[in-house]
Amino acid sequence: MTEKKKVLLCVTGGIAVFKAAGLTSQLRQSGYEVKVMMTRSAMEFVTPLTFQTLSRNHVYHDTFDEKDPSGVAHIDLADWADLVVVAPATANSIGKLANGIADDMISTTLLATTAPVMIAPAMNVHMYEHPAVYANMERLAKYGCRFIEPGEGLLACGYVGKGRLAEPEEILESIHHFFKEQSYKPLKGKHVLITAGPTREYVDPVRFFTNRSSGKMGYALAEKAYEQGADVTLISGPTNLNAPYGVDFIQVESAEEMYKEVMERYNRADLVIKSAAVADYRPKVTYDSKMKKQDGNLSIDMDRTKDILLELGKQKEHQVLVGFAAETDDVTRYAKGKLEKKNLDMIVANNVAQTGSGFEGDTNQVHIFGRDGHEYESSLLSKKEVAEIVLRESARYMKGSDEG
Ligand code: CTP
Repeated sequence: MTEKKKVLLCVTGGIAVFKAAGLTSQLRQSGYEVKVMMTRSAMEFVTPLTFQTLSRNHVYHDTFDEKDPSGVAHIDLADWADLVVVAPATANSIGKLANGIADDMISTTLLATTAPVMIAPAMNVHMYEHPAVYANMERLAKYGCRFIEPGEGLLACGYVGKGRLAEPEEILESIHHFFKEQSYKPLKGKHVLITAGPTREYVDPVRFFTNRSSGKMGYALAEKAYEQGADVTLISGPTNLNAPYGVDFIQVESAEEMYKEVMERYNRADLVIKSAAVADYRPKVTYDSKMKKQDGNLSIDMDRTKDILLELGKQKEHQVLVGFAAETDDVTRYAKGKLEKKNLDMIVANNVAQTGSGFEGDTNQVHIFGRDGHEYESSLLSKKEVAEIVLRESARYMKGSDEG
C-alpha cells in the first residue's frame, strides 16, 4: 500500500471483543493505520491497553476526555477515517445508529462520520432474528451501511444458530475488498439503465398474470454498477427487495409502464441491461370491478405486450444493449436467436430448469454470448458475483470504458 488507509474500529460490548483484538493486529500487519474506539461494556471484556498495544495508537472511549485542546476528538476521528468498522456490533449499537441516537463516543462518532460504515453484528441468535433488530439493519442498509454477516454455530450463550461474529480473517477480507472496490470505478461517468423483476398484467382490480422473477439479479446488477461508479437507474416491477443504495429507483407494475419509463430514459443511457421478466401477453380487457364467477370454464383473451428490448434494439444508437434469456431447454440456440433478432450487443442466458439457476434463489449460472462471437460460461455463483461478470463483459462493448 502506498498511502496507508485509515480504519476506525468501533468495538462494542460482547464476548466477541477478543476477536476484535485479533482483527486490530491483522489490520496493522496488513498495512492499515488503525484507531480503536470502545464502549464502556466492551472494556468489561478486554482492556483498552490491549487495543492500544495492538494498534499502536491511543484508544478512545470517553467523549469528554479531550486530550488535545485544538480539536474535538470524536469529530476529528469521524473525519480521519477512510472506513469505519463496527466489530463486534451489538443489537444495542445497531439500534442506536439506526435511530440516530448519540449517547456515547461510538454512537456520536458514527453519526458524525461521512466515511463508509461496515457493521459486523454479534449477538444471541434470537436477538439477531428479532424483527426490531432486523428492521434496524434494513434501515442501515438503506442508509448505505455494509454488513458482514455473522456466522452460524455454537454461541457463547449456549444456543446454536446465527449470531457469532465473523472471523477476523473474514472481516479483514471484506475490508480489503472494500478498498479494492473503491478504487475500481470502470463505469464512472456512465449512465446505466437496468430493469428488474416481473410485471403484473391485471384482469380486474384483484387478479393479475405474473411470473416467478424475484428481481434479485437486476438489483444485484444495480448495486454493483453503482459501486463501480455508474449513474444508475433501476426500473423495477413488484418485488420484495429494497431499492439498492444510491440508485435512482422507479417502481412500475405492467409491461406498458415499464416500456414508457425505459423509453423516456433511453437517450441518455450508455448501457441498458434488461434483466426484467416482462410479460409477453396481457388480458385484452381489464375490468374495473372484480369479475364474478360464471358457470362453466373461463377463457381470457390476451393481447401481446410491447417487446421493450426489441424496440430498444431498433432505436439503438450509441447504447450498449444487454438482454437476458431465461430458458428451460435449447439455451444456446434460443439465446443466440434473441441476440440477433433484438439487435443486442450481449445476451446473458441461464437455464432456469437447472438447480441453482432458478428464479427465486441467490445463485445463478450463466452463459454469455456477445455480438462479436465472444462467449463466457460461468460456474454456479452468487447473483452478486454474476452481476460483476455481466458488467465486466458488457464493458467490452462500451466506448471509453477501461475494459472496452
Ligand atoms: N423482453 C422485453 N419485453 C418483452 C419481453 C421480453 O424487453 N415484452 C426482454 C427481457 O427483459 C429479456 C429478453 O427480452 O431481456 C428476453 O426475454 P424472454 O422472456 O427470455 O424472451 P422473449 O423475447 O419474450 O421470447 P420467448 O418468451 O419466446 O422465449
